Amino acid sequence: MIEVRELTKVFDVKTAVNSVSFTVEKGEILGFLGPNGAGKSTTMRMITGFLPPSSGTAVIGGCDIVGDSLNARRKIGYLPENAPVYREMRVTDFLNFCAEVRGVDSGSQQARVDETIEKCFLSDVRFQTVATLSKGFKQRVCFAQSILHDPEYLIFDEPTDGLDPNQKHEVRLMIREMSAEKAIILSTHILDEVDAVCSRAIIIANGKIVADDTPQGLKATSPTHGSLMVRITAEEPNALLMLLKAEPGVKAAEILEQSDRHARIRIFPENPDAPPIADRILAMLSARSATVHSLLVEEGRLDEVFRAITTS
Ligand SMILES: Nc1ncnc2c1ncn2[C@@H]1O[C@H](COP(=O)(O)OP(=O)(O)O)[C@@H](O)[C@H]1O
Ligand SMILES: [Mg+2]
Repeated sequence: MIEVRELTKVFDVKTAVNSVSFTVEKGEILGFLGPNGAGKSTTMRMITGFLPPSSGTAVIGGCDIVGDSLNARRKIGYLPENAPVYREMRVTDFLNFCAEVRGVDSGSQQARVDETIEKCFLSDVRFQTVATLSKGFKQRVCFAQSILHDPEYLIFDEPTDGLDPNQKHEVRLMIREMSAEKAIILSTHILDEVDAVCSRAIIIANGKIVADDTPQGLKATSPTHGSLMVRITAEEPNALLMLLKAEPGVKAAEILEQSDRHARIRIFPENPDAPPIADRILAMLSARSATVHSLLVEEGRLDEVFRAITTS
């Protein structure tokens, strides 16, 4: 596993990372979330041995990144921010170079590079120089470099930054596919990504961990968690709203949008985790001859939780 112990980084007078501790087990994909400047990249640079910590350390599969740096780094694959790759090298040459540096056995090197090129959808550009690639492809080359030596521990700093929606989807698929036998940390500020890929999320703000939970657990702290959203057509939506508010189990209700007989209403239950009240609300609405177009139980929204936590 990856064990991060009270990592701290002070730049001049600024504490960029302030005593951050957590562990990531094999099989976990940890989403590292936070606004710009929160300290995500600095933390990742310290975990990967790229930047020495001011204090604290990280232990990668039993090897201390400060005390036993070379062995710790051997176990890591790292995709840094902004995908630094040698622009003048061809894709195959660059990856062969990385394989050599990583000490991949020379007998299996070419096969390993070919396999990685295939896996990262780089076959069509393998003989192009990096400089001629679009941003998404450069990102993939750097991604390929990080998994080339089949490391057990992977650190991806904003792996989908600047990619188009299809490329984002591909990268997420690749990450999910290899997650079973690896421990993965990825940073992002795309909240959908956390939902789509991560088994756990840590939110960091001003260098400190402010939340550590599953995406579901985080969403459950959202003010809209468990609320019902109904879209109806009725003779008098306002009169219905009054009746809804008086229903047992309903704490509050509000009309979010209305035009004439159409309305979108949000209903907050007394207790979002009690047995659902949707059935009763539906029965009540149809008894009053309202047409229900849609009814949705909100899981809660990560963006609301993120904003509440990182701006307070
Ligand atoms: N080499 C450095 N020298 C001085 N300040 C730095 C350096 N690297 C990062 N910082 C500062 O540390 C803070 C955290 O930066 P960073 O880890 O890049 O945040 P994030 O990746 O979450 O956007 C920022 O305020 C940034 O300006
Ligand atoms: Mg960053």
